[in-house]
Amino acid sequence: MFDLTNPPEGFHENPYPTYQWLREQAPVCPQADGSFVISRYDDLDRIYRDTKLFISDKKKVFAPKFGVDSPLFEHHTTSLVFNDPPLHTRVRKVMVGAMNPRALAQLEPGLETLVSGLLDEMEGKISVELIEDFAGAIPIEVIGNLLNIPRDQRGPLRNWSLAILGALEPKLSQEQLDWGNRSVEEFVDFLRVIVAERRSHPGDPETDVLTRLIQTDKGGGLSEVELYQNCIFILNAGHETTTNLIGNALALLTEHPDARRALLDNPSLITTAVDEFLRMESPNQLGNRLTTQDLTLHETVIPKGSDLHLSIGAANRDPAKFDDPDRLIVERKPNKHLAFAGGPHTCVGLTLARMEGRIAIGRFLERFPSYQLTSGAKRGGRIRFRGYARLPAQLN
Ligand code: HEM
Repeated sequence: MFDLTNPPEGFHENPYPTYQWLREQAPVCPQADGSFVISRYDDLDRIYRDTKLFISDKKKVFAPKFGVDSPLFEHHTTSLVFNDPPLHTRVRKVMVGAMNPRALAQLEPGLETLVSGLLDEMEGKISVELIEDFAGAIPIEVIGNLLNIPRDQRGPLRNWSLAILGALEPKLSQEQLDWGNRSVEEFVDFLRVIVAERRSHPGDPETDVLTRLIQTDKGGGLSEVELYQNCIFILNAGHETTTNLIGNALALLTEHPDARRALLDNPSLITTAVDEFLRMESPNQLGNRLTTQDLTLHETVIPKGSDLHLSIGAANRDPAKFDDPDRLIVERKPNKHLAFAGGPHTCVGLTLARMEGRIAIGRFLERFPSYQLTSGAKRGGRIRFRGYARLPAQLN
């Protein structure tokens, strides 16, 4: 039987044969710790929408994993994603308001300049590393701009983010736990200074996301702890995921020459292509929910209080939902993939992520239409987040 904490040989490289087996043979796959892996599209879609039977609160799961007094516990149980109403509704409303279309539109010219600068820097090189030189360099700057964090102070953000999200992996070493806890503490100390500074010099709350988040702490908004932990969440949520979107897309285009040709012939297809990259190689491969009642799914009894691992990667290749699911079809429409989940917890940053994908991947292809990967590509080695740690390439 499939074991999420010890997946079969070759799973990190190519999980899709295992996902196919799960969908066909064990759509509700029991795990040794009493949790279940769910892999069919229709089941995930239903679970994401039904927030009465399937909840997001993770205190029960995180207490033994992190310890209730740990910084990781405080962080992950205060961020909106691992909460239900009323906290989730209140924090989400503030976030959606802060990341309004005006605030996001403002970021686009800076994003174009950033991408164009990175492409200029790569232009002169014979070989490049697409994660370090490109995909990994974009999201951190974009979110830094979103929260208006001084550029010279952004250095540690990437490692904090990797450590805190890395602590969500199904299996953790003591070293990973320590690194995660240390990172939450350092991140909060860092934000205390930034928030104090913004309080004394507020920006325009219509377009300055941090000012908006701070100002709502009066009257029904965010408490001090909620403010820090949810700022950390925004910085983390949009970081590794978006790096992976860009990196995965650039790798996919080298494996599917017909898709690359179609995009080069018709660059306006980049909009549907971004969603197809998200479907084919979903940056976030797993979601989680907890059951509030006993239920039976595909003849398997799932007791109340069970942790469900929702395999987004498997659902997004489900032939019952998508024609020819293993083919990258850049013009695919409709494309109701679950890469951003679904229901009331649907990703708050999806417009920003799509904008980053469209500009980064589109401009890269325009500048280097015949790039090729060279040897040395290395997967990130995680189960929850799917992407590359290294992606060496030749540009011409
Ligand atoms: C390609 C990039 C991205 C992917 C694949 C992605 C994926 C997801 C997924 C699957 C969820 C749902 C988690 C769950 O409930 O189980 C989520 C939630 C969220 N994402 Fe994203 N995300 C991306 C980029 C971003 C960006 C750029 C931001 C913000 C700057 C962001 C902010 C959020 C927030 C705030 C939530 C919590 C929503 C809630 O619980 O109501 N994400 N994201």
